[in-house]
Amino acid sequence: MSGHNPFRYKNRDQLLSAAEAIGLNLPFQENTANLLESVTVAGRTLSNRLAILPMEGCDGTEKGAPDELTFRRYNRYGAGGCGLIWFEATTVSPAAKANPRQLCLTEETLPAFKHLVNETRKASRNANPKIKPLLILQLTHPGRYTRKGYDPAPVIACHNPLLDRLCCLPDDHPLISDDALRQLQKNFLTAAELAVAAGFDGVDVKACHGYLLSELLSAHTRTDSLYGGPFENRIRFMIDTVKKIRQQLPESIIASRFNAWDGIEYPYGFGASAKAPQLPDFNEAVELAGRLSAAGTDLLAVTMGNPYVKPHYGRPYDRPLAGAAVPDENPLTGIDRMMRATREVQQSVPIPVVGCAYSWLRRFFPNVAAASVESGNVSIIGVGRNAFAYPDFPNDLASTGTVNEQKVCIACSCCSQIMRGGGRAGCPIRDAACYEHEYRHCRVQSGGGGDKS
Ligand SMILES: Cc1cc2nc3c(=O)[nH]c(=O)nc-3n(C[C@H](O)[C@H](O)[C@H](O)COP(=O)(O)O)c2cc1C
Repeated sequence: MSGHNPFRYKNRDQLLSAAEAIGLNLPFQENTANLLESVTVAGRTLSNRLAILPMEGCDGTEKGAPDELTFRRYNRYGAGGCGLIWFEATTVSPAAKANPRQLCLTEETLPAFKHLVNETRKASRNANPKIKPLLILQLTHPGRYTRKGYDPAPVIACHNPLLDRLCCLPDDHPLISDDALRQLQKNFLTAAELAVAAGFDGVDVKACHGYLLSELLSAHTRTDSLYGGPFENRIRFMIDTVKKIRQQLPESIIASRFNAWDGIEYPYGFGASAKAPQLPDFNEAVELAGRLSAAGTDLLAVTMGNPYVKPHYGRPYDRPLAGAAVPDENPLTGIDRMMRATREVQQSVPIPVVGCAYSWLRRFFPNVAAASVESGNVSIIGVGRNAFAYPDFPNDLASTGTVNEQKVCIACSCCSQIMRGGGRAGCPIRDAACYEHEYRHCRVQSGGGGDKS
């Protein structure tokens, strides 16, 4: 174990030496021009290889329509210059929200989503007339993270001793039935149709970070079910959903963001090694990616971990959430693990794969990303926290070949803290005028506490 080390690198050599000191060969190149080259997704040309990752702002209306701050965020993304904007986790079921302000696409909220798409495209046109970003909407069911107070109560696909304890669920909490899952699949199909009606280019069938479809992938212990146990069963819901959407929307893009590894031991996590239960084994991810591609998926995004348990696996950071322990892992180790998983998936499928978890690298992230693209280990570079902090970084990259040190994300977990505190998420450091108040307010509300996992 390499131990946690916050970012403190003044130049390329210091960063690369730090990586080397813990046995990592961090890819790096000075020339970042390849990030601005076009890339093709299902026959459509993206202007560059840069993507805004889905980032929940927790700022919709009670009905799940985009609200004022949602419009502001996507306006900034549109103007920022990324070739792909992957809209945040949007629930397919009004009864199941991970937070009270989560977006939810229904007939009722459709007009507001249409407006959001139009405004995002307009912002892009006004700022960069040559860039026509691809717009994908992430569809989800929050599963065990459905907030209490909603009906039905938290929905789980299988029991998991660690997560059940963290979610305060009794051992006999019922599992979602196969019938209810088939019913839910219809919600995904309806939401996909509505997304296309709203003007999105396609949808993402989300199966990451421990939410329902992600949990299904890990449902080794779900017995007497078509959706649990052997690999074939665990991937069935996802594959069937993709196939049905493909049938229904032959012209639209289907994407999928999935966990290559849950960071939870076998047999409770997807992508965990049966031989060394605490460690990842990316063979499952590679196999799943191949099946998704064969089922009609056009675009994949690799991620990992669960934000409620060891969030550093998915988003390496310097400072944890308030009250949580500093992880015993160097953020560079986490970045390297994510890049290895992404490489294995990208090299096994004929479709583009989006990578993530670059934000911790500060101003060096384009250099690491460009080197990864150059080696064919990833096709599109996704940014998450940096999208909150610095949505127009592609414009700077295009004009200077680099990004501004004063504007990059500092991996302080403040955006996650706002989310946990029930606020509207954004960057209180780089976008202080808008989010400093949210941050202070949520710290007061939550007594400075946060997720302790
Ligand atoms: C506040 C917050 C909200 C997020 N919302 C989503 C989401 O809606 N869907 C999703 O797939 N990932 C979500 N993520 C994960 C990010 O997309 C991304 O994978 C992660 O932050 C790592 O990338 P980065 O290093 O560029 O931040 C969220 C992360 C944060 C911090």
